[in-house]
Amino acid sequence: MLNIGVMVSGSGTNLQAILDRIDDGTLKKCRVVTVVGSKSGIYALERAEKKGIPTAVIKRKDYPGIDDYDKALIEHMKKYDVKLVVLAGFLSLLGEGFVKAYENAIMNIHPSLIPAFCGKGYYGIIPHRKALEYGVKITGATVHFVESDYDSGPIILQKALEVLPDDTPETLQKRVMEQAEHIILPEAIRLFSEGKLSVEGRKVIIKE
Ligand code: GRF
Repeated sequence: MLNIGVMVSGSGTNLQAILDRIDDGTLKKCRVVTVVGSKSGIYALERAEKKGIPTAVIKRKDYPGIDDYDKALIEHMKKYDVKLVVLAGFLSLLGEGFVKAYENAIMNIHPSLIPAFCGKGYYGIIPHRKALEYGVKITGATVHFVESDYDSGPIILQKALEVLPDDTPETLQKRVMEQAEHIILPEAIRLFSEGKLSVEGRKVIIKE
């Protein structure tokens, strides 16, 4: 079994997509052993609690430096014997210590086709608003391994969707979530859990 630790900051629809694929048997070799929130009171933590998954809130601002924050995260993940960390709508930046401790074993989902509409400040509805302002005809979502910078690191999977003439940031966000993010994040986790991913430089090799 692959022990997964999921980190969240919001409503947790991506977390739910992972839990649903575990329940329906698609992610046969996976279990979510802990869900860590960057703040309390978020719906993602409620989703985990409903499933009886242990939760914790580990806030960046409770630690004097990034190293202390990283240590607290590493300690928590080791306690649950986590082997894959999934950032499912997680908004705090991780430090080098944490990223090194879980090298090529932290995944992030981002709601655009990286390297477009990503980086510092591109979270929530913003990538979709910027995509519409720019006038792109396609957008989508990206799952990538995490390096200690925003939305960087080798790309595992991407899924493209058409932008429709009457899209608003909200309609686009909903479609990207339902038709791209919620599909490629569990799929990337499946590939990882079945040992089908390897990283060569910036490239992720998939051996199905
Ligand atoms: C998603 O759009 C994800 O790509 C981004 O933050 C959002 C989180 O949504 N990083 P949810 O909490 O999974 O519903």
